[in-house]
Amino acid sequence: MKCRKCDAKAVINMRQHRLALCRDHFIEWIVESTARFIEKYDMFTLDDRVLVAVSGGKDSLALWDVLYKLGYHADGLYINLGIDGGFGYSKTSLQKIEQFMSTRSDLHLEVVDVPAVYGAPVNVAAEATSHGAGKPCSICGLTKRHIMNRVAREGGYDVVATGHNLDDEAAVLLGNTLRWQIGYLTRQGPVLPASEDGLVRKVKPFCRFYERETAAYSLLSGIDYVEDECPYAVGARTIYHKEILNQMEEHSRGAKLQFYLTFLQAKEQGIFQAADDSVELTPCSKCGQPTTAAGYCAFCRLWDKVRED
Ligand code: AMP
Ligand code: FES
Ligand code: ZN
Ligand code: ZN
Repeated sequence: MKCRKCDAKAVINMRQHRLALCRDHFIEWIVESTARFIEKYDMFTLDDRVLVAVSGGKDSLALWDVLYKLGYHADGLYINLGIDGGFGYSKTSLQKIEQFMSTRSDLHLEVVDVPAVYGAPVNVAAEATSHGAGKPCSICGLTKRHIMNRVAREGGYDVVATGHNLDDEAAVLLGNTLRWQIGYLTRQGPVLPASEDGLVRKVKPFCRFYERETAAYSLLSGIDYVEDECPYAVGARTIYHKEILNQMEEHSRGAKLQFYLTFLQAKEQGIFQAADDSVELTPCSKCGQPTTAAGYCAFCRLWDKVRED
């Protein structure tokens, strides 16, 4: 198969767009499409300071690379969760990020070491509490969200960008829809606006790219990334939902993208407006970050308990 734009051999065929491209034109397409999504959803401008949450995986490294190419002021944030999983998961992740940075000039990375700062790796923290029945994923999510917001506020960043791709977003959407979690559905989307109470704006510039596209971008750009999933992700519900969506995509090309885009459209038309019960946030009396709880926020209560045990 030939590239749509030149005579070279196509390296990828994106059936949902009926678009086959060669290496160079595919890389160009990803970069240009990202710029278009950033503009379309009003994510940020060249004047903004962007904090990219980088995990060492293909999506977030590809995102940092694209923002770098587009000339955005984008610094990285790596959260070392202290997960080993028998192969040094967290350590390997940081090594891949450092390797990525060594071939690009003027990149800056913030590292937050969870065991050193908060007292334990997230998996040990999970064992010390009843949260998530010993699985660290919910504690880990809470911890990452807290740290991203804290670092962004303290560093004066305008926005936090994460590498979530379409497969991630469609799987979360399916989960939220199966349970009709209106609160989550109302907040899901490419942009989570800042709140006056101190939540920094969060954006997902890759939310319209299939996972195979971000993987192809990283491979074709020579970006070396951690291929292993987090060892605790095995058996997670989102993985099951991803499998279901992959089966649907097999049957009907573009099904995932349709599912996500028609959701965004429906939201724009106001189907969740009546349910928009935005809750009031107040500063946590310990760390000062916004919370719905009175007194200490969930993050502070959790990590206080971990240190007590
Ligand atoms: P995940 O939930 O692991 O699929 O990750 C989704 C996004 O969250 C990634 O694309 C990153 O932007 C961000 N992220 C995940 N883990 C980390 C980490 N340890 N440090 C910084 N950002 C992370
Ligand atoms: Fe957090 Fe796996 S439990 S990345
Ligand atoms: Zn071409
Ligand atoms: Zn707190």
